[in-house]
Amino acid sequence: MIQCYYTKISPAIVADKFEWLMSFLPKEKQKQITLFQNDIDKKLSLYSDILVRLITIKTLNICNKKIVFGKNQYGKPFLLGTHDFSFNLSHTREAVIVAISDKPIGADIEKTRDAPLDIANRFFTINEQKYIKQASTNVDKRFYEIWTRKEAYIKYIGKGLAIPLPSFDVLEPDISPHIETITTDNYLISVCSEYVNYRLPLVELSESMMESLAEKLLS
Ligand SMILES: CC(C)(COP(=O)(O)OP(=O)(O)OC[C@H]1O[C@@H](n2cnc3c(N)ncnc32)[C@H](O)[C@@H]1OP(=O)(O)O)[C@@H](O)C(=O)NCCC(=O)NCCS
Repeated sequence: MIQCYYTKISPAIVADKFEWLMSFLPKEKQKQITLFQNDIDKKLSLYSDILVRLITIKTLNICNKKIVFGKNQYGKPFLLGTHDFSFNLSHTREAVIVAISDKPIGADIEKTRDAPLDIANRFFTINEQKYIKQASTNVDKRFYEIWTRKEAYIKYIGKGLAIPLPSFDVLEPDISPHIETITTDNYLISVCSEYVNYRLPLVELSESMMESLAEKLLS
């Protein structure tokens, strides 16, 4: 089972709504969120945590107070007390995703923009670089396809950048079937899982849908 949820986040903060949603998080998380300098970073952090909570409550039928997150030594968060529920989140400028599965999972979202090709030269394998440079028109899209696939892979393993990026190739047949990449709006989303050749269902929830779900499920 794999499911991916996607929410576009507007940069504007409505103070009442923000404080109301904050009240559903543990004090420590609230403190971390207030330490961000920019409003958009505060909001992305808050809404991604709320999204994980809503999905967890819906999927496992537990209440918000029972949700306690732990982290592995590389910072990968997991839900304490479960073995067959995994999630991973990713946020970019104006969107968040949360992917869930009954097996370990990693996810990444990036907005397609001008590709910093020097990063490909430094951190991607020769094969991955060729794949990007061979493209006649969609070089930027291919760059972010490889980028999100590499991020999803290291997040699936759970070691983040402790795995050197040039040390694995996301186009190789031992890794590639585990990763699904989809495009929505101007975003590229990749998810890496133990499953192979799966379809990645994307459920879009608006900010306001999230807020009404929070009213029902968190209050
Ligand atoms: C931390 C890292 C795991 C992801 O960072 P990122 O791409 O900047 O951020 P994302 O929004 O995709 O993911 C952040 C979330 O991943 C989760 N996460 C943190 N450490 C993780 C780990 N070791 N494994 C899996 N997930 C992890 C957390 O939920 C985190 O959310 P939080 O910051 O709100 O706590 C790591 O891969 C990183 O720092 N990457 C930098 C990006 C880069 O330079 N990429 C090179 C091109 S491929």
